[in-house]
Amino acid sequence: MTVSTESALAVDAVAGLWQNPPTLPTKWLYDERGSRLFDEITRVPEYYPTRRETEILAARSGDIASVTDAAMMVELGSGTSTKTRMLLSAFAEHALAAGHRFTYVPVDVSTEILESSSATLALDYPGIDVTPVVADFTGPDLSLPQTGGPRIAVFLGGTIGNFDDDQRAVFLRRLAGALSPGDYFLLGADLIKDTGRLVAAYNDKAGVTADFNRNMIEVLRTGLAADGLYADDFDHIARWNPARHRIEMWLRARRDIDVWFGALQRDWKLAAGTEIRTEISTKFDLGVLGAELAAAGLDVVTTWTDDAGDFSLTLSRR
Ligand code: AVJ
Repeated sequence: MTVSTESALAVDAVAGLWQNPPTLPTKWLYDERGSRLFDEITRVPEYYPTRRETEILAARSGDIASVTDAAMMVELGSGTSTKTRMLLSAFAEHALAAGHRFTYVPVDVSTEILESSSATLALDYPGIDVTPVVADFTGPDLSLPQTGGPRIAVFLGGTIGNFDDDQRAVFLRRLAGALSPGDYFLLGADLIKDTGRLVAAYNDKAGVTADFNRNMIEVLRTGLAADGLYADDFDHIARWNPARHRIEMWLRARRDIDVWFGALQRDWKLAAGTEIRTEISTKFDLGVLGAELAAAGLDVVTTWTDDAGDFSLTLSRR
């Protein structure tokens, strides 16, 4: 971890861990090990969203390229994935036929991941200009590079569900503000469905999601020089919150916890049974989502789902 990452973690820890209930921003789940574990989650049988979204993109990438005629794709949250490649292939083919250049702008907070994935994509897509931008796209000063033709911002994976309602409204407004009239936004969102399947998707039998969740404890332990903090002292909890139609992930202390954070010069005590909230994953109703987009100034052009109706891709236009 870099010094600036450590102090950002310290700031978030101080702001969240002594709250009731204690909480820590979800982004701290995604260090190197966490990102690897999430990758593994996308392959467990219970976790359907990645497969469903890939299925939609495989069927619709060509349509998305021809409908938008975009000269630039800005991807919020890094793209090394198969999903990004399906879009890039479709846009590269469309741009070649239309006789214009195409630029891919991956936006991510992690410099290392951006640089390595951009270098690989530039080699694999000689017809595409790859110009990565290191930025926190959830921050207030989201600005997108300019280009000659329409731009498309894409935000895949259902990560929009990690925002609470207020954060999501702010994010959509800022994004719409960063787009010009005529630009597009492609959003992947997971849909409300049978509770049993939703809960199973976050409680896989192999225990990968549990390891992913408990990795937050490892991040705290190593990032804040903690004594007396052990991942094994926490149970993984993922439950459906029906009122807010979201999965919530928590870590529940299995015994009384008494931690010394060297980096904070501070003691942290948790009674057995106390739960720390680590992630929310909101699920959507397509009508409500369309209304939220419209309220931000983004008009729905087309919505696609997979055959089972599990996951959605919504193309909207500023
Ligand atoms: C990558 C944020 C979309 O919310 O489903 C998967 C993360 N957490 N299993 C999601 C996640 C637990 C995932 N997102």
